[in-house]
Amino acid sequence: MTPTAPRSILLLNGPNLNLLGTREPEIYGSDTLADVEALARTTAAAHQLELQALQSNHEGVLIDAIHAARGTAAGIVINPGAFTHTSVAIADALAGVALPVIEVHISNVHKREAFRHHSYVSPVAASIVIGAGINGYRLAIEQLAWLLPEA
Ligand code: DQA
Repeated sequence: MTPTAPRSILLLNGPNLNLLGTREPEIYGSDTLADVEALARTTAAAHQLELQALQSNHEGVLIDAIHAARGTAAGIVINPGAFTHTSVAIADALAGVALPVIEVHISNVHKREAFRHHSYVSPVAASIVIGAGINGYRLAIEQLAWLLPEA
């Protein structure tokens, strides 16, 4: 069995977040997913944390990555995209691995359509960062580092 690497964190981005930079820039801004991952990696490094980053448009791929995080990551930062509002399966996976989870949304979902106001993920998240733009990823990693035990 692979030894655990407790000072690594997993950053997951869900569907359509690969389009950041060109997707509805008035809502999501002009930064790309690469910019988000670079910001997250720099923030993690400042806390002596490694970052594994994955974006997928597929629910099952995200679930497999959550399962794999057990034993390889100390915590998870996730922007589940639209799966936030639909996926009991992602919420169950997050609950199942029992790692600290920080949920991130770039936009303030509560200022938007009513269907975006409910999150299946929030009840299993330790903390939630909403509406801070891509800076929300930095805040989420800071918060995860704050929650994690000292190395
Ligand atoms: C989002 C908000 C979701 O409602 C939406 O489906 C997304 C992005 C956000 O980061 O603001 O894809 O999670």
